Amino acid sequence: MDRDFAQRFSLAGRTVLITGASSGIGAHLSRIAARAGARVVLAARRVERLEQVAKDIEWESGQALSVALDVTDRASVEAAFDTAEAHFGVVDVVLNNAGIGNGQRPLEIGEEDWRAMLATNLDGVWRVAQVAAQRLVKAGRSGSIVNIASILGLRVGTGYSHYCAAKAGVVQLTKSLALELARYKIRVNAIAPGYFKTEMNEAFFDSDKGINYIRELIPMRRLGELHELEGPFLLLASDAGAFMNGSVLAVDGGQLVSSL
Ligand code: NAI
Repeated sequence: MDRDFAQRFSLAGRTVLITGASSGIGAHLSRIAARAGARVVLAARRVERLEQVAKDIEWESGQALSVALDVTDRASVEAAFDTAEAHFGVVDVVLNNAGIGNGQRPLEIGEEDWRAMLATNLDGVWRVAQVAAQRLVKAGRSGSIVNIASILGLRVGTGYSHYCAAKAGVVQLTKSLALELARYKIRVNAIAPGYFKTEMNEAFFDSDKGINYIRELIPMRRLGELHELEGPFLLLASDAGAFMNGSVLAVDGGQLVSSL
């Protein structure tokens, strides 16, 4: 393998901030960003839960910093970026991963449920992307923002009208920001995962209903494994994806192309 090829996927010398890094996809990709050479800022509401991820990274001789961050709160987001900058310098790459995902029937979603879903899954992504971009522009640096959308932002599924609306918003936000931030050399792309077993959905996928769902609706008849998100993430975050902007990569075992 020629050296340039591997080098393009490297995150060496970059500061990468990952929201919702305490569990699931965020925790996994934090470890991968560190292995790719990044200084990783682990951001979540529960700082004590970040400590295990930070320890794992440091045990492998990587660099990690845990910061408290609630994506629904502007002051908290600004403070997390301030701390990140003080330790590791300007944040070059953001993985906008924090999200909630409780299912609810449309007639039962209350005003507060709707607001909570949009506040975290759409407003939070916008807020973190905007703060990151403002600071990159001020510093005159290029950057990459990777948003975690969902296949439910591209198609719909029962019991998730508020989640689908928020994730569709993330897809359009990704494309709009890609268009407007390109002039500052900031790329904005999204990953639309299919189903991966995490705290968000493990009870369902361990149930008979969940097992049947996998068999009937996912063409590959299995869930995704967290390591199967590593390639798409590194591609979008690193210079390997330097000409990718406004892309939405589905990683779903073919679920979006399932038969109608
Ligand atoms: P998870 O529940 O393990 O992780 C979500 C993380 O976001 C948690 O660490 C949680 O504490 C954090 N979070 C929630 N609200 C927050 C807030 N206000 N501020 C900061 N952090 C907050 O679940 P998972 O699956 O790892 O989810 C990560 C992302 O992937 C979410 O955006 C989710 O919608 C998305 N996704 C997950 C899929 C799956 O099958 N697991 C499928 C498609 C998308």
